[in-house]
Amino acid sequence: MPSSTRYDSMPYRRCGRSGLKLPPVSLGLWHNFGEGADPVVAREMIVRSFDAGITHFDLANNYGPPPGGAETTLGRILRDDLTAHRDELVISTKAGFEMWAGPYGEWGSRKHVLASLDQSLRRLQIDCVDIFYSHRPDPETPLEETMGALATAVKSGKALYVGVSNYDAQMTQQAAKLLQNEGIHLLIHQPVYNLLNRSPEGALADALQSEGIGCIAFSPLAQGILAGRYLNGIPNDSRAVCDRRFLRPKHITDQIQNRTRALAEIASARSQTLAQMSIAWLLARPFVTSVLAGASRWSQIEENLAATNNTNFTNAELAAIDHACTL
Ligand SMILES: NC(=O)c1ccc[n+]([C@@H]2O[C@H](COP(=O)([O-])OP(=O)(O)OC[C@H]3O[C@@H](n4cnc5c(N)ncnc54)[C@H](OP(=O)(O)O)[C@@H]3O)[C@@H](O)[C@H]2O)c1
Repeated sequence: MPSSTRYDSMPYRRCGRSGLKLPPVSLGLWHNFGEGADPVVAREMIVRSFDAGITHFDLANNYGPPPGGAETTLGRILRDDLTAHRDELVISTKAGFEMWAGPYGEWGSRKHVLASLDQSLRRLQIDCVDIFYSHRPDPETPLEETMGALATAVKSGKALYVGVSNYDAQMTQQAAKLLQNEGIHLLIHQPVYNLLNRSPEGALADALQSEGIGCIAFSPLAQGILAGRYLNGIPNDSRAVCDRRFLRPKHITDQIQNRTRALAEIASARSQTLAQMSIAWLLARPFVTSVLAGASRWSQIEENLAATNNTNFTNAELAAIDHACTL
């Protein structure tokens, strides 16, 4: 039985100009849910998150390893533990990065996007995802075709809402217009956004606000760097050691360490951990709906959730943070 108090204190936030609310902290399954992951730990992270009011779980076709592994893991947990609660959950997945061999296994063709969605639904053991994303812009496929495929996903009842990820401001606006022509609102954008990577600020943020598109920031902790994971060396159980696909020790440079140390001091003066302040700072951006954090254990999610207890920053704190990010 899930906790009866799970909705008592979570400050859900409206996603752009839509009817959908998301939790401020959502859980991403990019790492730690593939075939090699401990199934007991994976299940604990999902069911305890649900118990704490986290309603949104984010996937992509290729999350694993192997590709599809994370969807299979979540499908099993949904079936065994959460079948009765499917309508309390927002499950998202994506198509666009390399998934299977041959010319239809990636990018933005109608052929890839719709076949990938069918595969995702089979692995997840559900009839419909709540949000279906184009995972990356395809420089060779007409945007009309990719957005047409997203529209088909909605019209065929296989997705409730659609989003884009890793699109720049201009393509996002074009995508929103194409979808609008189909009577569909572009719900959400998923960019990388954290204290060490502020690229969405400016043109993309303006476009999202003017189009009424929500924003869910991925890698809010810079894969663990902004959780202070590497402040005292490189732990053996960390992503940089255990899974070297996207974060390696060489990425943790002296400059990043200097910035992270300065940020950790500001967090400590606010009585927050660095992870909590990094998340709180994102939640204080007016265009951000939710942050999409990852985790390797429940205690990290619990710590990150407490970020919502203080998302107010003084001007002096904001200035100190801006300065720390330029060291
Ligand atoms: N759309 C896209 O192209 C795209 C790309 C990347 C990610 N994403 C999405 O964003 C999600 C999150 O990405 P991410 O995993 O890189 O996010 P992240 O939140 O920046 O990093 C998560 C990692 O930080 C460490 N961590 C988290 N909380 C911690 C805490 N309180 N204390 C200490 N360490 C902590 C853990 O690493 P350890 O393993 O070292 O413990 C955890 O696996 C993904 O799952 C996915 O859904 C989307």
